[in-house]
Amino acid sequence: MVIFANDSLHLIEINEEGKRLFNFNEEIALPYSVSDFIGEELTKKIKEHSKKITEKPFSLGVSEIYDKNGKEIYLDSYIQKTKKGKSFDYLLTSLDVNYQVLAKNQEINANLQLRALYNRIEKIQEIERNRVSREIHDELGQVLTALKIRISLFGRKFTRLSIIEVDDELIDILGYINNTIKTVKKIALELKPVRIEELGFSDAIRWYVQDFSKKSAIKYKLTLKQNDDLLSEDLTTTAYRLIQESLTNVAKHSKAMKVNISIRTINEKLKIEIADNGIGMKFPIIFSKDSLGIIGMKERVNTANGTIRFLLGKLSGTRVIIDLPIKN
Ligand SMILES: Nc1ncnc2c1ncn2[C@@H]1O[C@H](COP(=O)(O)OP(=O)(O)O)[C@@H](O)[C@H]1O
Ligand SMILES: [Mg+2]
Repeated sequence: MVIFANDSLHLIEINEEGKRLFNFNEEIALPYSVSDFIGEELTKKIKEHSKKITEKPFSLGVSEIYDKNGKEIYLDSYIQKTKKGKSFDYLLTSLDVNYQVLAKNQEINANLQLRALYNRIEKIQEIERNRVSREIHDELGQVLTALKIRISLFGRKFTRLSIIEVDDELIDILGYINNTIKTVKKIALELKPVRIEELGFSDAIRWYVQDFSKKSAIKYKLTLKQNDDLLSEDLTTTAYRLIQESLTNVAKHSKAMKVNISIRTINEKLKIEIADNGIGMKFPIIFSKDSLGIIGMKERVNTANGTIRFLLGKLSGTRVIIDLPIKN
């Protein structure tokens, strides 16, 4: 879609594609404000960046707007100024990136993907089991062995010790037992996933995102506009895992400096958006049978009857948009 506008953002010209998008078939005249078409989000971006916009295309990233039927669409937009005497006009070029957007799982080779997913889950479980086993063996095994030696030594000399010496020995042994308890607690804590029930969904997310930012050195903005009380436990677990997987991908692949995470409730849906400003995802990758993280995300979303979309704006990083219905 291409839109020409004057410097106060009034419409001069809109191309056929734009007219189709917005059901615009009248003769076009100046009284129309550009925001009538491209919506507030994109208009705001243009105003915010107006000083930085030159005669070269300036990326505004991907924005959400609504078409003539009120359906949301996503446009990856570039804007530039064109000189007109002392003033200038704006030329806005928007690429519809909906075609890069993925709704439900429609892959032909879904079966293959599913099998790959189960294999991966099994592999992860195997790794996890090994880790726990090693931890129990190394840490718990060690303190228990020390405790055993202590007690058998104590048993051997027990009859020869004074009451005070027995007391000292017992204090020593209690120390070992306390260490053992600490070790058990530590292992148990690592095994246990974050308890959303304990912290509440919002605080669990806050905690996770903060921790993510600390470990990855990626800045973040977190917007939480949902009412935890309306969300079922299943739903918050799904949401939590999806955010986890998305942020792990941002840290692993995106090279982003910043990520925006927003969680809102709109029209009986929990809407989650994770937008990074990194290198962006290559389009075919979201359909690849090797993208097991993404397949896992799609599976989770499908189970919750939701939708997931990946927007791959060219200079603007990756934006993951998830809608999950809030059912009672
Ligand atoms: N935020 C992102 N930015 C850039 N590339 C990404 C992002 N998220 C995912 N990708 C790309 O998509 C691929 C598939 O992701 P995923 O299925 O989670 O697999 P994995 O993380 O195990 O590589 C990644 O290997 C990466 O190339
Ligand atoms: Mg991944």
